[in-house]
Amino acid sequence: MDAPLAPAALYPGTFDGLTYGHLDIMRRAASLFGRLHVAVAVNASKKPMFTVEERTAILLEETRGETNIRVEHFEGLTVEHAVRIGAKAIIRGLRVASDFEYEWQMALMNRDLDARVETLFLAPSAQTLFVSSSLVKEILLQGGDISRFVPPATERYMRSKFNLPPSER
Ligand code: COA
Repeated sequence: MDAPLAPAALYPGTFDGLTYGHLDIMRRAASLFGRLHVAVAVNASKKPMFTVEERTAILLEETRGETNIRVEHFEGLTVEHAVRIGAKAIIRGLRVASDFEYEWQMALMNRDLDARVETLFLAPSAQTLFVSSSLVKEILLQGGDISRFVPPATERYMRSKFNLPPSER
């Protein structure tokens, strides 16, 4: 393996319904850094459907075997967590232009809070550009097939949350 960009990076998120889009960004980031910490935000401003424990369990299941990915959760500021774990970079995926304003503002704010940590944006694969957790939930609730968008553990947890029968995959 080529020398990594830095020992560690942090990929934070709510991950309230892990999608193949999140996994795509994780794998790209894990190939660039010695260690990737995927961290579930406890105090995200959203009201998640899954508990922190459920979101962490899904991530652990779907990253099993990825030797340089660590799954954890954190409370408080992302940038403080990055410093705590020795990460020089916060990773975020940029899917479409509408992501840009929010992500740009967060990146600049995080750098203002602590200039030791940079934000790196990665481009997702074309097949995941249009995927989001809330659209997936809506599709499932309307009886649609979500297997192309989310890994098996997410679908299992979502079906159980919505009292739907297990899928056949
Ligand atoms: N593929 C598919 N979906 C993606 C995606 C990708 N590559 N990237 C983002 N998404 C989607 C998610 O599905 C989710 O969709 P939804 O809104 O429909 O549910 C949405 O984009 C964002 O989810 P996620 O990537 O999990 O991140 P987030 O925006 O919820 O996370 C935090 C925000 C946690 C990073 C931010 O709130 C934070 O840092 N909080 C900690 C407190 C803090 O430090 N605040 C100050 C920040 S300056």
